[in-house]
Amino acid sequence: MEVRKLNPAVGAEIVDLDINNITEAEFGCLVEAWDSHGGLLFRDQRLSNDALVDFAARFGELEAAPVMENGRTPVPGYPEIYVVSNVLGTDGKPIGSLGAGEAVWHTDMSYLETPPDASMLYALEVPPTGGDTWLAGMSAAYEGLPDQLKVEIRGKRIKHDGTFNSGGFKRAGVEVREDPRESIGAYHPIVCAHPRTGQPALYLGRRRLAYVEGLELAASEALLDQLWAHATKPEYVFSHSWRVGDLLMWDNRATLHRRDPFDADARRIMHRTQIKGATAPLAA
Ligand code: OGA
Ligand code: MN
Repeated sequence: MEVRKLNPAVGAEIVDLDINNITEAEFGCLVEAWDSHGGLLFRDQRLSNDALVDFAARFGELEAAPVMENGRTPVPGYPEIYVVSNVLGTDGKPIGSLGAGEAVWHTDMSYLETPPDASMLYALEVPPTGGDTWLAGMSAAYEGLPDQLKVEIRGKRIKHDGTFNSGGFKRAGVEVREDPRESIGAYHPIVCAHPRTGQPALYLGRRRLAYVEGLELAASEALLDQLWAHATKPEYVFSHSWRVGDLLMWDNRATLHRRDPFDADARRIMHRTQIKGATAPLAA
């Protein structure tokens, strides 16, 4: 297997590796690549649901899939697999989450006290165009912050909202509060240390209904706008155009991700697994 860097700030492709046959030594190399690059891409895979779950479980304990927008459990018999899809089932309801629109920049489930460390997306069906997934490298973004912003955020925490998902859909059973100080969510340090490497990274979650603890709302909004504009600059970002059989995994502590919209009449079906957070996000 070969590790090929995708972008200076984030991501590497693992070339010539069949996920169905990974030796212990190869897995050791993968973990190393994983810690250094924040995102890993594997192409031309053929994974059953069992193989996807087994591969994810090598990285740590798995998270149960969250309840979908439609209130259903996604894949019978596989409580760890979440479906991201716009396809309608025989009952006329989507079989998965996030629809066909844009999914704005975010990290997964940061409204929890202990969000998942990693997420893995495996492509079963992809649209002919659109639906690209983007990663942004938050260690590089932290390093590249102007000194004055680094000082301004030192020791501060952000409130990560749990009302809406990245597709803009309200989560089941949550009441909408438009004031970010009142909506549901969790506080995390703005600059987190990677649990294994200690590498500092910006931990922003998502922009909507975010709040910087202790600031006037207007000051919080202004600071967040500056951080988000910086963190999603082209130099920190990489976009992936999907083929069936691609698997992309990202470290939620080291990256942000988003998705382009695609034609709602086209089909896109992705299976996602998540690795539980070993700890709550740690202040750097
Ligand atoms: C996710 C997600 C983006 C995509 O599954 O957490 O943000 O490309 N998916 O489907
Ligand atoms: Mn996501």
